[in-house]
Amino acid sequence: MQLYGILGYPLKHTLSPAMHNAAFRSLRMDAVYVPFAVTPAQLKTAIAGLRAVGVSGASVTIPHKEACTAWLDGLAGDAAILKTVNTIVVRGGRWVGYNTDGAGFLRALREEMRFEPRGKTACLLGAGGAARAVAYALAKAGLAKVHLVNRTPARAGSLAALLARHAKQTVVRTAAWRPSTIAEAAGESHLIINATPLERLPLRVELLERSTVVYDLIYHPTRLVADARRRGCVAANGLGMLLYQGALAFELWTGGHAPVSAMRKALRKTVAQ
Ligand SMILES: NC(=O)c1ccc[n+]([C@@H]2O[C@H](COP(=O)([O-])OP(=O)(O)OC[C@H]3O[C@@H](n4cnc5c(N)ncnc54)[C@H](OP(=O)(O)O)[C@@H]3O)[C@@H](O)[C@H]2O)c1
Repeated sequence: MQLYGILGYPLKHTLSPAMHNAAFRSLRMDAVYVPFAVTPAQLKTAIAGLRAVGVSGASVTIPHKEACTAWLDGLAGDAAILKTVNTIVVRGGRWVGYNTDGAGFLRALREEMRFEPRGKTACLLGAGGAARAVAYALAKAGLAKVHLVNRTPARAGSLAALLARHAKQTVVRTAAWRPSTIAEAAGESHLIINATPLERLPLRVELLERSTVVYDLIYHPTRLVADARRRGCVAANGLGMLLYQGALAFELWTGGHAPVSAMRKALRKTVAQ
């Protein structure tokens, strides 16, 4: 039996085991995916232990996405740029870190919201790990301009520097975390993304154009999504991103197609419980 799992702490609410075990079941694979709740102090030992028992692949979540890079044999794809990992692929005994968050977000945006970022303007609230992956993916997809709005200006500055180095064609503006500057940036944007864990944002949704698309990375239904829909905007929560980042991880691990509909069904069922 192949063993997969998710490294994070705490892991009480993780939806990933339900999603990946549903994928294994639907393809009749002899594999299982379990939560590995590991504190930051135990991360190095845990990775050494998982290598020793011959784990076939892993997901990585908060708070290990950056820290785990120190114990891997290499980084590939977006992870090499972002220096954050959400997927570990084991190939020939080498543990290589990938990041499928950005590509998962883009796939959700295109398939579920019918939104194509090329030539558009976005307002990104947050500048943490998820925001970095999302901003880089949007920029690579041809986004014309992004407003980065974050509580800690230095973090927005660091993301702006990353985009200036690796995605030069996207115009980057940073803005202070204040209702007036958020309203200004949002008012100029086709797409608004919440990449913070905040359920209540200092954003007045009633001022948005009805054509604005709103994406909340939080997995469950939020006030932002409900208010945006009431306003007439197309809006979604982060379940689609979770699904597609998981599907891409599955494909990296197995080299085959992910059974997306079985994975989506399992996620919806788990969230509804
Ligand atoms: N749907 C998906 O597949 C998916 C994937 C990854 C993450 N997520 C979700 O995305 C969200 C962010 O995750 P992350 O990994 O990027 O976390 P993170 O690296 O810890 O970043 C958190 C971000 O939220 C901001 N923030 C936190 N508390 C705040 C507050 N009280 N006021 C204003 N800003 C605040 C932080 O600002 P500072 O820089 O000022 O601290 C930072 O920009 C979480 O809700 C997570 O569950 C979803």
